[in-house]
Amino acid sequence: MDDLRDKYINLIANAADEATLEDLRVQAVGKKGEISLQMRELGKMSAEERQVAGPKLNALKDEINSALAAKKQGLADAALDERLRAEWMDVTLPARHRRVGTIHPVSQVTEEVTAIFADMGFAVAEGPQVESDWFNFDALNIPGHHPARAEMDTFYTHRAPGDDRPPHVLRTHTSPVQIRTMQAQGAPLRVIAPGRVYRADYDQTHTPMFHQIEGLAIDKDISMANLKWVLEEFVKAFFEVDDVELRFRASHFPFTEPSAEVDIRCSWEGGTLKVGEGDDWLEILGSGMVHPKVLEAGNIDPNEWQGFAFGMGIDRIAMLKYGIPDLRAFFDSDLRWLRHYGFASLDVPTLHGGLSR
Ligand code: DAH
Repeated sequence: MDDLRDKYINLIANAADEATLEDLRVQAVGKKGEISLQMRELGKMSAEERQVAGPKLNALKDEINSALAAKKQGLADAALDERLRAEWMDVTLPARHRRVGTIHPVSQVTEEVTAIFADMGFAVAEGPQVESDWFNFDALNIPGHHPARAEMDTFYTHRAPGDDRPPHVLRTHTSPVQIRTMQAQGAPLRVIAPGRVYRADYDQTHTPMFHQIEGLAIDKDISMANLKWVLEEFVKAFFEVDDVELRFRASHFPFTEPSAEVDIRCSWEGGTLKVGEGDDWLEILGSGMVHPKVLEAGNIDPNEWQGFAFGMGIDRIAMLKYGIPDLRAFFDSDLRWLRHYGFASLDVPTLHGGLSR
């Protein structure tokens, strides 16, 4: 029995893995194992012999079982230690910089303009890009025969054959959002509406889809003076200069009366634009006092309320601010262009943190 003990304790101590241990268990204490066979021999013994051999055999079986369990635990601990050693990593290492793309200049400028007007109390409004011709034209005092309809190179949708209603259009400007917002919110109100607009036109400064931002402020006593101040504040903040000079040129839009186009003083010396100095003027937007008919279309009483509106091309001011020569490149999805003119994705423009940094 001592030989048996020494043999198995030795084999268990030297077992290299769990499979070997399991083999040893079967060999020693399994149903047909050596110890079990010895136990079967007990029946053939005399009572005295059995009294000595029985407990000894049981003790040996226990000892081997404990040795197996201890070795098994030992192997598991060693395996875990090995894993911990092999899979160790330094979690204090700095993260690897991964470039996830850039913010498109149009998105950047939209964010910048929104931040500036939000600071002056303007909320952001939206409207559909496929618009009824009533919202896009009639409500804005552009009736069916009006030349402005032809001038806008409108994209029309199809109606089913036999459906005589006027077709929907791809909105040609963001001005219909004025009507939708007036109808939804009533007066007083103060909103800007950035978004996509569409006209059938294509050259270095025109693409069939481009972006505008509309502004609308309605209250009891809003005047052109408010418009002028708001636009001056906007231009200074947007071009990140301390001083600007605006020029209001009398103009005509069906939806404003009086109407003005606004230019800013600038210089093009050396081929780069400088805002606020020089002898050139740069047209940046159309504006005016909201026409009474437009207020009426928005269900706002023109005898009680008045306001200003303006509309500006986002792509155009993005080209000006960031020196981008060709509008068409905005929509080419050329990765090299996007990397060059794009903005860091985590730098959100704010007035306090800097617009463009
Ligand atoms: N909707 C005009 C356009 O697309 C721009 C415009 C001019 C908007 C004057 C206005 C405005 O709100 O008052 O060309």
